Parts: sequence; C-alpha cells; structure tokens
Amino acid sequence: MPLSVIILAAGQGTRMRSDLPKVLQPLAGRPLLAHVVDTAQQLGADDVCVVYGHGGDTVPGAFPGNEFRWSLQAQQLGTGHAVQQGMPETPDENRVLILFGDVPLLTAATLERLLNQTADNELAVLSVDMDDPTGYGRIVRDGENVVGIVEQKDASEAQLSIAEINTGVMLCPAEPLKRWLKNLGNDNAQGEYYLTDVIAMAVRDGTGVKGIRADSWVEVMGINDKKQLAEAERALQARLVDELMAQGVGFADPARVDIRGKLTCGKDVFIDVNAVFEGEVSLGDGVHIESNNLIRDSQLGAGTVVHSNCHIESSATGANCEIGPFARMRPGAELANNVKVGNFVEIKKSTIADGSKINHLTYIGDSEVGTGVNVGAGTITCNYDGANKHKTTIGDDVFIGSGVNLVAPIEVGNGATIGAGSTITKSVPDEQLVIERSKQVTIKGWKKPVKKT
Ligand code: UD1
Ligand code: CA
Repeated sequence: MPLSVIILAAGQGTRMRSDLPKVLQPLAGRPLLAHVVDTAQQLGADDVCVVYGHGGDTVPGAFPGNEFRWSLQAQQLGTGHAVQQGMPETPDENRVLILFGDVPLLTAATLERLLNQTADNELAVLSVDMDDPTGYGRIVRDGENVVGIVEQKDASEAQLSIAEINTGVMLCPAEPLKRWLKNLGNDNAQGEYYLTDVIAMAVRDGTGVKGIRADSWVEVMGINDKKQLAEAERALQARLVDELMAQGVGFADPARVDIRGKLTCGKDVFIDVNAVFEGEVSLGDGVHIESNNLIRDSQLGAGTVVHSNCHIESSATGANCEIGPFARMRPGAELANNVKVGNFVEIKKSTIADGSKINHLTYIGDSEVGTGVNVGAGTITCNYDGANKHKTTIGDDVFIGSGVNLVAPIEVGNGATIGAGSTITKSVPDEQLVIERSKQVTIKGWKKPVKKT
C-alpha cells in the first residue's frame, strides 16, 4: 500500500521560551522538523504532509523548494484535529503514518519495523516502556491487544500505574481513519480532539490494533524545552560519531566533537577534541584535525593537517596541505597540493598553487598565487580601494619579503623577488629584484621625550 506521512508541527512550544517556533529550533544545525521530514523521505513516503500553525508561514518558509504538502491548522484544538487538517488530500487507498515534528531522533529502522509488522488493514501505535510515565498517554491492553490510550489527565489510579506509554506515532489505513476522525469529540479533561480516541473506535469496528514497542526511550523523546533539546543534541551527536567510528574514523574523545550537517571521511582520519563541522564537509584519507577547529562546507584533501584553532569556510585543499595553527580560510580559499598556510594568515577567494608557503601574519584576498611561492610574514594584498575589489596575480617561484603591501590590481612575474617592507603599486617583471623603500636616515641630536611632571 502506498504510504502517506502526516507530521504534526502546529503546537506552540511555550516551554522553549523562544521567538522561534519549536519545530524550527536547531538540532545538529538543522530544524527539528527537518530531521523528521528526512526520516519520512527515507521511508519512501509517496506523500508527506506537514500540519503547521504556530509560527505561521515562518515554518514552511524555512523549507524553500520542498516537495511536501503544508496544511494550516489555524487553531490548535488537539492532535486528532491536527491530523484531520492533512486528511482531505490524503488518498483513501494509502496507509497513513503520523509523526510529531518535535520527535526528531526516531529512526527509519524503527518505523520500517512498525510498517512491516502491521497488516494493511490494521492500526498500530508505537509505544515505549518508561520508568516514569507521568504526563504521557497510557497504552491500555487486553492481553496482547491494544484496546485504548488514556491520557494522564483522564486516567484512573490503576491506569496511571501503566508503564507502557504512547509515543504519538500511529499507523492507520486512510479510509477508516477519515471516518473515525470525523466522529471525535472533545469531551475530556483538556477539551481537545484527541487522536488517541480513534483507538477505541477501531476496536469497536473490529479493526486489529497493534502496540509495537520502540527499543529505547531516547529515540522517541519529544522535545519541549531547551534542556531536552540539549539532551537530544548529545544523543544525536553520539549516534553520528558512532557511525563514523564504525567506518574507521578516529576521535580523541567521541563526546567532544559536533557535526552539524554531513561529514564524509576517508580512511585513517583522526579528529581531536572540540572540532565543529558544519554543512557539507569532506576529509580525505589520513586527514588530521587538531583541537578547536571550525570547518564549514569545505573539502580537505588526503594527508592534510589542520593545526589547532582554525576557522575554515567554503574552502578546499588538495593533498598534504598544512593549515594553522590560528589560520582563517574564508570562502573561496583554494589550496592545491603541499601548500602551507601558517599562523595568523587569512585567505579569501584565492587560489594557491602547489608547494607555496604563506606562513605568518598575512592577508591574501582575490589573488592567484603560483607554484613554489614564498610569502613573507606580514604581507598584505591590498585588494580593496574603498569601493571595488581588485585582483593580485603572483607567478611561480616568487619570493616576497616580509611586510610587503601589494596594491591591487597588480601582477608579479615568475621568479621575481620583492624586498621586505615594499609597497608595490606597479607590475613586477619576471626574475627581477624589486624594492620600494625610502632611504633610512638617522636624525642627529634627537632627544627622547621626557614625561611632564
Ligand atoms: C500526545 C498524546 C499522548 C502521548 C504524547 C507523546 C494525544 C491526545 N496524546 O500528548 O498520548 O503520550 O503525545 O508525547 O495525542 N499538535 C498539533 N496540533 C494540535 C495539538 C498538537 O500540531 O492541535 C502537535 C504538537 O505540536 C506536538 C504533537 O502534536 O508536536 C503532540 O502534541 P502535544 O500537545 O504535545 O500532545 P501531548 O499532550 O503531549
Ligand atoms: Ca508533548
């Protein structure tokens, strides 16, 4: 049977105490809801519908170019009412899987199990056993069969002692679900239309109801406040690092790394503590990341070493480069092979060819640097005239002395040498030594100033 997924994401999330709608709070760098949508898509759902409400258009707005349906639930009258909003366009012949936008750690594997263990004409709820079930809907069974779900506020003393709770995930054929939803009432302690009331209706109609237990509580945890958000973050990070370790990636401390996006690693990669990866990052074979680095949307070639305390964004390197400590690679920094970028060096929108070294205190922007170039300490490409950016082109085997300003647009020919302290404003010919310095003078009779009393 084809599968529809309806994701409930209309709730306010008051306990987040935030202007950002709950389902947009970031987990591993992406909205909570994005994780749930990913899971739905991994299941191969034919139709994904998100029921939104609180936060209005900011919620769909956070998913530009998406291919799912959005249903507005203008007033949050309960989970049953929420599902109803997504039902009119749901084909009768589909099975409907209901997920919550604030339950982001649920895996496709658990949901596959739910789908596989439930017949097309049956209803199933995903449950879990909890040490402290307070606050949750309790699963009421008669033998093996589930006969109802009773909410905390509506439960009897005996029902309150049930440890098996409703995670909220439900699977049901669309056609009867539409019928049952129409018959929901709100005569309960919270005055809400409870989705869970369809269980009793299904039982009455003779539909089989399965209760399938999730393996761990962590997977089904709902996120209501910042503390739970932080707990979910650690749980997800542990999961991501476990996957990478299984692929052979080494970590100094699996608990002290953060992956906010997709990290792809080759063989024998080693990552020291406090490395943060954002967006899409790939590390080639043997890459070594030392402590305290932020690497965002970048590709590092095999054998590259990033020493401590670097900030690398939208950049790329070839093989065996060395970066840092304390280097900044801004968008468009592209190093070929065997390039060295040392401490307090900033590189932006520039290509650096094989074997060149920029070791200390330098800014290279909007530049093309050839092979085997040595850039002395304190060199600046003056790429900005206050209005426009200009290009610097440096040939192969150039030696640039310390403290040189290269005022762009400018070209430095192959094999040229530039004397320390020069401010270069005209093109430098191949193979020549160029120096731009005023003559050194000694001022006779000069006296050191004395402090006035
Ligand atoms: C619900 C279940 C309860 C279960 C618990 C698990 C019902 C009646 N109860 O209770 O059995 O143990 O989840 O966490 O279903 N939502 C909407 N629109 C609404 C109401 C809710 O989109 O009108 C969304 C919320 O944003 C949230 C989810 O549905 O993501 C659950 O709603 P919530 O009010 O938290 O349900 P609970 O009372 O916790
Ligand atoms: Ca809840």
